[in-house]
Amino acid sequence: MNTVTQLYPLPPQELPLHGLYLGHDVQGLAAERERPLVYANFVASLDGRIAVPGPTGSGLVVPKQVANSRDWRLFQELAVQADVVLSSGRYLRDYASGHAQEILRVYDDPQFADLAQWRVQHGLSPQPDIAVISASLDFPVPEALLAGGRRVVICTTEQADPRRVRELEAQAGQVVTAGETSVTGDRLVQALAGLGYGAVYSASGPKVLHLLLAAGVLDRLYLTLANRVLGGDPFSSIVEGPLLAPAVGMRLHTAYHDDAGLDGLGQLFLCYNQPG
Ligand SMILES: NC(=O)c1ccc[n+]([C@@H]2O[C@H](COP(=O)([O-])OP(=O)(O)OC[C@H]3O[C@@H](n4cnc5c(N)ncnc54)[C@H](OP(=O)(O)O)[C@@H]3O)[C@@H](O)[C@H]2O)c1
Repeated sequence: MNTVTQLYPLPPQELPLHGLYLGHDVQGLAAERERPLVYANFVASLDGRIAVPGPTGSGLVVPKQVANSRDWRLFQELAVQADVVLSSGRYLRDYASGHAQEILRVYDDPQFADLAQWRVQHGLSPQPDIAVISASLDFPVPEALLAGGRRVVICTTEQADPRRVRELEAQAGQVVTAGETSVTGDRLVQALAGLGYGAVYSASGPKVLHLLLAAGVLDRLYLTLANRVLGGDPFSSIVEGPLLAPAVGMRLHTAYHDDAGLDGLGQLFLCYNQPG
């Protein structure tokens, strides 16, 4: 079945899966604003797990019980609308070891050819640029990151090793400081705005979401709730870090039920806006 049911806003209606999040017009929303629109996306189990130990036992990976092609299509529809995608030092370390899900070259995949076309039609570069958030700067720069003429911006702290900064500048592109000992959301968004970005998509995990929420710069959260309960330790949820005080309130923007998802178990595609 190639449709989902819109549950909110009412009235309910059937909509095609393909094009569902393109219809959210992230580029159009970003164009209306003075500062960048920052949006993040996660797929989680019903018990809130976004990452569990991988097959090798070292490090956490997206649980295979919740990852699925219908959610992945929507991940791509969100990525295709970005000017820049936020990634992390941890992601590039996993990428180098061959354990990371491919997010750097998605439009080379023939099943997403229509999305590559979408960028061309909207006058955008073939691939969004990449911003890598890292305090350690301890990652190799993969060839795939530099392919296709994309700009790579590395966002780090004032404590970063100056020699490593110079190496990365020579190898990968621009290195910007966006925090004293830790990258902060406000300095990150300020730096990305200064580089001319309007739509900023976080494909990173719970620590990056925390820095965005703590600074009040996350505008929109996309959350897929896959209808499976996993249990188990250790695990990651969508946000990790100190208690957010005050708690961050989000308002439901859209809710779709995907009856056919997860081999007929179903899943919810939820989207929340930060009010105000
Ligand atoms: N299910 C899902 O939808 C979903 C989505 C995204 C990620 N995940 C999973 O979540 C797990 C963690 O993902 P992730 O590592 O990409 O995200 P993360 O936990 O948000 O980021 C971790 C890395 O980002 C850098 N970083 C984070 N906060 C920083 C700060 N304030 N200042 C400077 N650097 C900072 C650090 O790099 P350095 O160590 O280099 O300093 C750190 O290793 C993975 O298992 C991933 O598969 C799941």
